[in-house]
Amino acid sequence: TQPQLLADKRILITAGPTHEAIDPVRAITNHSSGKMGYSIARAAIEMGAEVTLVSGPVALQAPAAARTVHVTSAQEMLAAVESNIKGQDIFISVAAVADYRPQTASVHKIKKSTAPLTLTLASNPDILATIAARADAPFCVGFAAESENLLAHAEEKRRRKQLPLIAANIASESLGQDESSLVLLDDQGSHLLPQAPKLTLARGLLQHIAAMLDHPITK
Ligand code: C5P
Repeated sequence: TQPQLLADKRILITAGPTHEAIDPVRAITNHSSGKMGYSIARAAIEMGAEVTLVSGPVALQAPAAARTVHVTSAQEMLAAVESNIKGQDIFISVAAVADYRPQTASVHKIKKSTAPLTLTLASNPDILATIAARADAPFCVGFAAESENLLAHAEEKRRRKQLPLIAANIASESLGQDESSLVLLDDQGSHLLPQAPKLTLARGLLQHIAAMLDHPITK
């Protein structure tokens, strides 16, 4: 059993990809498996937290002790997060939210032709930035999957979205994989969680969060 570092804490976690409908049978999505977010949900339950999991479409079994809300699109994910955010102590945004959606989903299946097809995309809301900007924002944690300049890009996101903590990894080494490594970036600097199963990384991340909540840095 794990030390109950998160006893009495309420944690909201987003996980998985989103699907943005093109027509009734097609969607824009990405390669997120949901494994990292689901591992964090499991580890948080082990540490005594009360977990709400807002999940995009994944092939994983949600932990029975989590309250799980299943959503499909980014707009549905934002609505589910907003309606569950009150009273949360921690928000960990692990979902790989699609940055764009087809501006209008076709009601009927788009017929195939040899002519080029143009889709107009509208940008999706940034769920994490929206929550972090609230006056009653919980402790907000982001994820940054990058293909290059990992630390610089992740730190830029942490500052832009006004997050106390961001977890960064190389996208190709993490998406869909069972193991990964993570670099945690906060006001104190960087902290490496070396290559390990995602449940191990999840425990390390949550220990770091618990320590930050126990010892707030006064600036
Ligand atoms: O800017 P970027 O999308 O790389 O930032 C990644 C972080 O922002 C992740 O924590 C992700 O869950 C969150 N995010 C979000 N809504 C979006 C895009 C990203 O919550 N539309």
